[in-house]
This record gives sequence, structure tokens and C-alpha cells, in this order.
Amino acid sequence: MAEQAVKRVRTRHFQNAKETGIKITGLTSYDQLTASIFDEAGIDFLLVGDSAGNNVFGHDTTLPVTVDELIPLARAVAGATKRAFVVADMPFGSYETSPDEALHTAFRFMKETHAHAVKLEGGVRSAEQIRRIVSAGIPVMAHIGFTPQSEHGLGGHIILGRGEGAAALLADAHAVEDAGAFAVVLEMVPSGIAQQVTAELRIPTIGVGAGPHVDGQLLVWTDWAGLTTGRIPKFVKQYADLKGVLADATRDYVSDILSGAYPAPEHEYEG
Ligand code: KIV
Repeated sequence: MAEQAVKRVRTRHFQNAKETGIKITGLTSYDQLTASIFDEAGIDFLLVGDSAGNNVFGHDTTLPVTVDELIPLARAVAGATKRAFVVADMPFGSYETSPDEALHTAFRFMKETHAHAVKLEGGVRSAEQIRRIVSAGIPVMAHIGFTPQSEHGLGGHIILGRGEGAAALLADAHAVEDAGAFAVVLEMVPSGIAQQVTAELRIPTIGVGAGPHVDGQLLVWTDWAGLTTGRIPKFVKQYADLKGVLADATRDYVSDILSGAYPAPEHEYEG
């Protein structure tokens, strides 16, 4: 029997998920090895996040990472997937100045990486950028709530949407929907307000620390797999202990080399 071709997830699948109540699943990825593992395991979308600034390049924040640094990562991820929808994150300083600048950056990601959409941060303040990119036929995933690119302006990692902040969060959510975003990430938002945003919007909401009443979930893969060193946010459930696995493997390898147990005869070439 002929093998069934794997069908690529598209923006309409995000919309169908919203309408049917089937949850959307997402992880970040920055390389072809993890991308192909996550893809084959059935993840719906992969975000080549500017969190690569921390998790690939070792910065303290996402701010220093550049378009030129993210493009090869997004190309590797897009090239390694057959089914997952790949979203390329537009980094700090690559879209804020004007809708034209935003479109120029989005064109670069789409042409040079083969990603299927771009993501940018900000609600009301980024609505014109979103509108311009969408008008060129490029899907945009919006990102509101805590937006890491503004961490200095916001005064650190803070929960947004509490108390009087709820009205601002709702205004941001409606602004990105009206501007044409196909989905919106809600980061570090109280569950109740995330539920209200999800009920009010026609587009799907993707929670990163926004509780269960959203249309989908996204986590940074290195946090999720227990590889990140340092602070792990409260909302992360750790699904593996890769740091422990790799540390044990390294200790075994060092000890085998020192004792002569590696390489063994089966690792040698004859002749
Ligand atoms: O870059 C990233 O990983 C992100 C997610 C946390 C939403 O933007």
C-alpha cells in the first residue's frame, strides 16, 4: 500500500482547533535534531523563538539576538519538519520602527528560512505592523501579556492582566485580532483573564503560563526537557531530565576514557 503523505499543519487547522475545542500543541525548537523529533512525535507547531538568545547564544535576555542569528536556526527547523507549522520569531529591534521595517523583516524570514509564519510581540502598539505583514499574505502569530523583549520597560518578569491590567490585556487581544493575526500567544497571564480573552476572541489563544482555559499550549523546549540551568518559571511542567541524563553520560564517558574501558575492541577498525 502506498505510504500516506504527511499533511502540513496550516493556519486553518489553528482555526478548526478553536472551533472544535481540540487543543493546539507547541514547543520551541532551534535546530534540526529536536525539530525532527518533535515533528515526528506529533507536535502541531514549532516556534523558533528569540529565546534562542538565552538557550543557544547564552545571553541573559532575548534582547541581543539578531535576525541574522535567528535565520539559520529557523531554516534548520523548517527544513527538518514534515507536518509541524513553523513560526519564526521577529527579534527585538527588527520591527518596532515602522510597518515597513516589520514587513521587510518578515519577508527575510519567509524567503530565507521557509518558515510558515512570523511572530512578534506587542498588542495595540504592534497592530499596524501586524496589519502590514498580513496584507502581504504572511501569517502573524501575535504575543501579548508578558513580552520578554520589554522586560526592562516592564520592570522584570511580571504577571500582566491582573486588576486594572485586565482591560489593557483585552484591548491588546482585540487589537491583534482586528489587525489580522491568526493566533495570539498569552504569556504569564492569570487563568481567569486568559479564559475571558479566549471566550471573546475568534482566533485561537496559545498559553505560555496562562492556565488551562486557552486554545493551545506552548513551552520553551529546554525548560520542558529539564535542560535549562537557572530559574524555571512556575508554569513549566518538566517532562524529562536531560540535564541529568547528559551529566551522567559525560561522567561515564570521562571515567571510561580514564580507565581504558573506552574505546573497546568493538569500537576499533581492523586492518
Ligand atoms: O521566544 C520564545 O520562546 C517565546 C515564547 C516564550 C512565547 O517567545
